[in-house]
Amino acid sequence: MLSREDNELLTRVGPGTPMGALLRCFWQPFAMSSELPHADSDPIRVRLLGEDLVAFRDSNGAVGLLQNNCPHRGASLFFGRNEEGGLRCVYHGWKFGADGTCLDMPNEPAESDFRAKVRAVAYPVEDRGGVLWAYLGPAPAPNLPELEWTRVPESHRYVSKRIQFCSFLQNVEGEVDSSHVSFLHSKQNSLADSAGIKADPGSQLPDYMARDRAPRFFVLPTEYGMMIGARRDAEVDSYYWRITQFLMPSYTMIPSPVGAPLSFTGATPIDDERMMGFTVTWHPDRPLATNEVAQIESWLGVHTEVDSRTFIPLRNRDNDYLVDRSLQRSKRSYTGIRGIREEDLAVQEGMGPICDRTIEHLGSADLAVIATRRRMLDAVGALSERGEVPYEARNAEAYRVRSAALVLPRSVEWNVGAADALLATR
Ligand code: FES
Ligand SMILES: [Fe+2]
Repeated sequence: MLSREDNELLTRVGPGTPMGALLRCFWQPFAMSSELPHADSDPIRVRLLGEDLVAFRDSNGAVGLLQNNCPHRGASLFFGRNEEGGLRCVYHGWKFGADGTCLDMPNEPAESDFRAKVRAVAYPVEDRGGVLWAYLGPAPAPNLPELEWTRVPESHRYVSKRIQFCSFLQNVEGEVDSSHVSFLHSKQNSLADSAGIKADPGSQLPDYMARDRAPRFFVLPTEYGMMIGARRDAEVDSYYWRITQFLMPSYTMIPSPVGAPLSFTGATPIDDERMMGFTVTWHPDRPLATNEVAQIESWLGVHTEVDSRTFIPLRNRDNDYLVDRSLQRSKRSYTGIRGIREEDLAVQEGMGPICDRTIEHLGSADLAVIATRRRMLDAVGALSERGEVPYEARNAEAYRVRSAALVLPRSVEWNVGAADALLATR
């Protein structure tokens, strides 16, 4: 469990909060690149870390991310005219560039230099990996983390975005908690089979997960966050290891069998009680195969089917994720909910918008959850008490890692035996 104070500390992310300050040291994925499809396309509303913003792509293709309220008298720039290299407020015509410069102030006398004194609050944006990233922290911005999926051709990856109605921390904790897989997700393959989807080997839950449902957890700190090893018995002389990566501040990679497409999730806080989830499947060496994309778009895995405008999952808390109790009784599904992501949503959102961690009872299977919180609390403390910027935030190259699920001899240390499988090659 956590004290009420620590729970507050970890989950309050707005301007001026300690966790908000920590998160602002890192780049945050905040939209699909396709939400701003071309130069001068329609602006979009963005709420990020409790701040209301507007994003637009200017005439040269550069993306601006401005505070929603016009610096003149506060009209929403969402209604602005995106034209000729800037976003023009429709109230009195002031116009701002992607970097916040005021480019035009047509309701002031031509000889006035007032324009030079006004700037819109603007945050740096990068467009990489099919995703728009924002940096809301103190200048200068660090380099973008060199995540492998952002370095492969577009054909090698599949990216999806969803809105989740809970604190980002509930998603991060779910991703690092490898022990729930033997329960919550234990029957999804039988659903995939019955839906006529030929699951590729990469998506088959190995028998080991069902045979040994009480994994031992091991945690190793790394230069980017930490590595979590969940060890299950395999054969008499081997263990089945599922190695999950936690990358500061809120990215995770859940394991795939070596050689199969890999998996990433980023949890970006919208505010204290909502988040955007970016899930990526990629293969470092080849385009995703047609059957792999078809499987993703069966929406039975970690990607979820969303409303194309709002990004709210179609199976969601308002319709109880379309839980089918007869399916649950049939033993073909542990939950009666279709889709691994929807199962995760049901438990993560079901905790309430901010989980009350003062009432938990954490056991040895929760080691990774405990360690993740500790890592974040230490980083929050170092920044707020001593002004120490987390070194991960300035260590972009360290993010070139993968997760892996593999069988290793019992005599081999997991981080040594898996070392090659955990290194990104792109
Ligand atoms: S409020 Fe935007 S130009 Fe006046
Ligand atoms: Fe899960």
